[in-house]
Amino acid sequence: MSTNKQNRLQAIRGMNDLLPEASKLWQAVESACVNVLKARCYTEIRTPIVEQTQLFARSIGGDTDIVAKEMYTFEDRNGDSLTLRPEGTASCARAGIQHGLFYNQQQRLWYYGPMFRHERPQKGRYRQFYQLGAEAYGWTTPDIEAELIAAVRDMFAAVGLQKTKLQINTLGDSEARAAFREALRDYLRPFFAELDEDSQRRLDSNPLRILDSKNAKTQDIVQDAPQLTDFLSDESKSHFAQLQEHLQALEIDYTVNPRLVRGLDYYNDTVFEWVNEDFGAQATVCAGGRYDGLIEQIGGAPTPGFGFAMGMERLVQILQEQQASVLEEATHKPDVYLVSSNGIARSQALVLQAQLSRAGIQVQLHCGESSLKNQFKRADKSGARVALVIGEQESEANECGLKVLDRGAVSQEQRTIAQNDALNAVTNCLESL
Ligand code: HAM
Repeated sequence: MSTNKQNRLQAIRGMNDLLPEASKLWQAVESACVNVLKARCYTEIRTPIVEQTQLFARSIGGDTDIVAKEMYTFEDRNGDSLTLRPEGTASCARAGIQHGLFYNQQQRLWYYGPMFRHERPQKGRYRQFYQLGAEAYGWTTPDIEAELIAAVRDMFAAVGLQKTKLQINTLGDSEARAAFREALRDYLRPFFAELDEDSQRRLDSNPLRILDSKNAKTQDIVQDAPQLTDFLSDESKSHFAQLQEHLQALEIDYTVNPRLVRGLDYYNDTVFEWVNEDFGAQATVCAGGRYDGLIEQIGGAPTPGFGFAMGMERLVQILQEQQASVLEEATHKPDVYLVSSNGIARSQALVLQAQLSRAGIQVQLHCGESSLKNQFKRADKSGARVALVIGEQESEANECGLKVLDRGAVSQEQRTIAQNDALNAVTNCLESL
């Protein structure tokens, strides 16, 4: 076999393996977040990872970075153009239309899974990344927006995330945006030569995105640009004011950021982002907004939508940097380590493992041939609180030894119990520790 480094197979750049140690933390974070959504009566939807390219082009928008340069698009064997999903909202909307979920119905949905964007990998930015998202269909009112924003706040609290602040903005309805686009173009045209390259390209196609430019010179120019607020309809203004009332009642701190425009084209009215203070350039952990035109745009009956997606890599990384409370939960050790001789004793140990684990006790069974002494060393290392021991003697008597492993615990001694009483004895013992 060649040892040449170039021949060694490796994961694709920007696509991460999730190793066993990290997966414990991920699972703890996932379940804490999903529980918050379940408690608000959201149900899961799973859609395919691959969709027709047209779906994303028509929903996210042809001029967005995502569609223009980041999609993993390929022709399949039938010559159809397919794309690895870069986000979940379009797929949810497509599935809802296809299966009649929006027909005279309201829906609260959540999804979780990998998304794919061919971006330049850096901290917090990957080519395969996980999003946990939620989408609500059928409500035009700001209560649903506050419900979902509050859910995100509660998810952050459940995992112990800190220093992550909410920014909100309103993009108004399509008429307001059209009038604002014109005013913005008129203002920016005289500065064309001074704008950064992306902004020059966007001046005609998508001038709103220029507000979002990270280029310092462009930011300076934009300072005095017209404000979208001046173009909002009364309805949009009152919608946004009501949302803020709800947020205040929920005691959610926020700032209104008039520059917040989002990188996807389907939004109207409310948009929001949760941004971490310390994480650097890719600090947006969670983002979303209202998209009342999307369903119609991809072929459904007009249906209002509102949702968000949370970037799991960013969330987990920030939690690690902050040494958040969820880390402790994720490092939990087995409850019981099962030490046994080979042969009949091992069969009995297998039976005990099955019984205890069915009752929700985490049992690590020592497999393979090794001395009891060696097995005890492993038991100590495992961090288990209790060891159950079936040596040859115990095995013959259908008994086992129960030994508390916790340092500083009441008893370091081994007591003998009947195997058929093990579940009871272990449960009582774990409760008393
Ligand atoms: P987005 O802003 O494109 O929105 O992505 C949402 C979140 O996904 C980001 O805030 C970030 O945390 C994470 N994310 C995005 N790209 C990457 C990447 N390359 N690497 C790591 N994390 C990333 C959407 O996707 C919309 N579908 C959100 C939405 C749902 N709007 C309404 N409903």
